[in-house]
Amino acid sequence: MRFDTPATSNPIDQLKVIGKPTDRIDGPLKTTGTAPYAYERHDVAPNPAYGFVIGAGVAKGRITRIEVSAARAAPGVVAVVTTLESAPLPNGPMNTATLFGGAEIQHYHQAVALVVAETFEQARAAAALVRVDYARQPGRFDLAAEARNAKPVPGDSGEGSGAPPEDRFGDFEGAFAAAPVKLDETYTTPDESHAAMEPHATIAAWEGDRLTVWTSNQMIAWGKRDLAKALSMKPENIRLDSPYVGGGFGGKLFLRSDVVLAALGARAARRPVKVALTRPLIANNTTHRPATIQRVRLGAGRDGRITAIAHESTSGNLKDGKPETAVQQTKLLYAGANRLTALRLAEMDLPEGNAMRAPGEAPGLMALEVAIDEMAERLGLDPVEFRIINDTQVDPEHPERHFSQRQLVECLRRGVERFGWTNRDPRPGQRRAGRWLLGMGVAAGFRNNLLTKSGARVRLDSGGVVTVETDMTDIGTGSYTIIAQTAAEMMGVPIGKVVVKLGDSDFPASAGSGGQWGANNSTAGVFAACVKLREAVAQRLGFNSAEAEFANGQVRSGNRAVPLGEAAGPGGLVAEDAIEYGDLAKRYQQSTFAGHFVEVAVDVFTGETRIQRMLAVCAAGRILNPKSARSQVIGAMTMGVGAALSEALEVDKRHGFFVNHDLAGYEVPVHADIPHQEVLFLDEVDPLSSPMKAKGVGELGLCGVGAAVANAIYNATGIRVRDYPITLDKLI
Ligand code: MOS
Repeated sequence: MRFDTPATSNPIDQLKVIGKPTDRIDGPLKTTGTAPYAYERHDVAPNPAYGFVIGAGVAKGRITRIEVSAARAAPGVVAVVTTLESAPLPNGPMNTATLFGGAEIQHYHQAVALVVAETFEQARAAAALVRVDYARQPGRFDLAAEARNAKPVPGDSGEGSGAPPEDRFGDFEGAFAAAPVKLDETYTTPDESHAAMEPHATIAAWEGDRLTVWTSNQMIAWGKRDLAKALSMKPENIRLDSPYVGGGFGGKLFLRSDVVLAALGARAARRPVKVALTRPLIANNTTHRPATIQRVRLGAGRDGRITAIAHESTSGNLKDGKPETAVQQTKLLYAGANRLTALRLAEMDLPEGNAMRAPGEAPGLMALEVAIDEMAERLGLDPVEFRIINDTQVDPEHPERHFSQRQLVECLRRGVERFGWTNRDPRPGQRRAGRWLLGMGVAAGFRNNLLTKSGARVRLDSGGVVTVETDMTDIGTGSYTIIAQTAAEMMGVPIGKVVVKLGDSDFPASAGSGGQWGANNSTAGVFAACVKLREAVAQRLGFNSAEAEFANGQVRSGNRAVPLGEAAGPGGLVAEDAIEYGDLAKRYQQSTFAGHFVEVAVDVFTGETRIQRMLAVCAAGRILNPKSARSQVIGAMTMGVGAALSEALEVDKRHGFFVNHDLAGYEVPVHADIPHQEVLFLDEVDPLSSPMKAKGVGELGLCGVGAAVANAIYNATGIRVRDYPITLDKLI
């Protein structure tokens, strides 16, 4: 189904099932611990052996020798696979670092060997007997030092952002020089780790030249494509299955070493092999959100109108790696005739930087939305009013291009009212309760809404059950539930009559889970398949498909009503289709918006920051399920608090690795750290987003949160920290 004109009324608009706060249909499996995650698929591959991954002990250099004889002789060892046995395995298009193969070490904890044994403990013990010798080379590990050599590069986080290296509109320098009020500040964000609860894990099994991997992956079709390339196989000989994913955050968008090593280990062992990356390997062996150095310059008239806006971001990555696209939102968030955005990249030897939840906007807004707060203060304006004055309803770089929907102003106004913003004292350091300094902060949230092809197959059986099959994943987000709601709404059945099967590469390729595009696109793909299924049902019964009504488990035309199971007949009916968008995303800017409000308390003696309450007001098209959408947003708000206060991979600049590579040293907040979180969704539909009229919220909930926290800390203390995270030492 091609979708490239505004959606008209369709069966989803009935809102009998869609738009309801339905409990997750997979909830009982999750809460009883019976949803099988990749490492626990005991049913699929009998008698597996266990693989233990060895990561490189140096950050840069070459392996001169790997001595495995002691490991091979150790109890229970079945096979040892080393990186010297093959050339570097080819990468997928969105990755840089070699997953395995060859003598060259590009980064610390790059996989160099896999030990396979009868038990996990035997594999781990034998791994300690493998001796790897390196010829070490000096590396570049300090972004601040390497930034001098950074070069302009186009940005693409693998999520289609495609920012050019430098974009200019009007005369930024002239307008900035002439502006009566201006700001020129630099903000730095650290390397961050996805830190998903479930580690990267895979069971691999071969049947002749056919390979099946039960794994934990967000993007099944990409995974199949990239695994075929890595192993020089035909894609049709590969099956990926990933029905449950214990968190991804972008860390599982791509194939990781657990998949290729499980496959190579299973080939060597001639039996199924299971591999999980141990927690200490994940930070350095996989990808991370790269650190940034961001310079923001703003010029405005005394009336508060922005006349000049510039945002330049420098990040580092391995050779041929990509930049963090941190200027993305600055191209679209505020008006202003004279504009400059630029991305620069420094070549470095840390592990590969890549997409982490809201790549680009999440760190970019940590700079822009704090700069806006600072600028509002210089102008003597309320920061909400300053944002409203500079709202734009068109793409400021291409004024002929409108937003499909843009209700940022409404989000901010709603938030002002709900949060009690007018009780804020604009002068910092004024409110105090005992030892706590109190402050409020606000930031705009912005994240693009990406349109991407998504397919599904739906089957109606003689019992009236509708089964949906698509390779869409549920990474804890609620995909199972909103897909079931979509099929139930379209076919006129209760949700209990829908079976949803996800995450299998044998199913039609979907949008997958990434870039907050999953909900809108994958349900739109199910919508498309259901339209075809409705036509097939109508045709079988001789009904005019435009007039047939699907409700209460029946299909009705005129005064004839037939139960769906009967209409399907003994053999059932199947339909498959995909949603495609043509150039719709080019013609309209598709984005989601939020107002984030935060109140903090900062201990006047210790500098400890406590979040008191948070509010997010979101405008993101139709909300398909307010319960699962709220869960996405409060999880993201919690993650934003981490970005503001605690999350940072600490770089050992001598040896080139992330030091705090476990959950004891890499600190993430949890919901219990925040006593009150509220989420409001504006009552919005976006007829240009898809037939679902929905958008994503999973990343929007994060975007701007860290800045709102930072702005609240400033309001509480009068201390402006521009180097994140705002650990307590920076407030003393
Ligand atoms: Mo996300 S970084 O697109 O999983």
